[in-house]
Amino acid sequence: MSDTTPIALAVIGGTGLYKLAGLDDAEAVSHATPYGEPSGAARVGSFKGHRVAFLARHGEGHTVAPHRINYRANLWLLHELGVKRVLAVNAVGGITERYGPRAVGVPDQLIDYTDGRLSSYCDAPGAEVRHIDFGEPYTASLRRAILAAAAQAGVEAVDGGTYGTTQGPRLETRAEVARMRRDGCDLVGMTGMPEAALARELGMEYACVALVANWAAGCGPTPDVEITMDEVFANLAAATATVPLLLEGL
Ligand code: HPA
Repeated sequence: MSDTTPIALAVIGGTGLYKLAGLDDAEAVSHATPYGEPSGAARVGSFKGHRVAFLARHGEGHTVAPHRINYRANLWLLHELGVKRVLAVNAVGGITERYGPRAVGVPDQLIDYTDGRLSSYCDAPGAEVRHIDFGEPYTASLRRAILAAAAQAGVEAVDGGTYGTTQGPRLETRAEVARMRRDGCDLVGMTGMPEAALARELGMEYACVALVANWAAGCGPTPDVEITMDEVFANLAAATATVPLLLEGL
């Protein structure tokens, strides 16, 4: 790439966020990694005078399902670009009261319910086996910076909560969500893991902005009502509008 200024931050966009508003003069960086193909090109450009990278987790046309995302290749591509800080934007369902539709959350814990995803760089043949500390899965200083940016921008953000990551792509049964609630989950989504752990393996700072698209199955004031994609996308569009405001503060 022509510009060698370090990238201040990378944004990984989830469902509903395929392009970063305000990212100017973006150059597409796209290539295979030792772990295979990323979801698409990383767009590296200027956001309010800072070099920022953006990658659409599901691909820019939302063609990659959560369980098929090559999380290792995505993180590796950003790592190769020199990215040290990642803001992960994830669409989620809300389980507990503070996390109703359109809420913007900055969770502080994770539970991984996924199955069969390639979730470590350690399983490449001959790779050194490392046991990363993951007691606090998100980078505390980056979480604080996001919360401060939200306060500055007048965005109401929910501080803390546990994000349970399910396999998808189907939504959960009510019994599954009831179990997650008993486990202590506040949010449910399909893409929180293994992304956070891979970022930690690569030594990147990483925090999540969780955008609540719907009440999770069996939750909220009308627990018997079916979750519709119209509702999901309308709520996501509203919550996604806060992302550039948060970035400005960061
Ligand atoms: N469950 C899992 N993932 C989601 C949901 C949900 O209810 N809403 C948005 N992403």
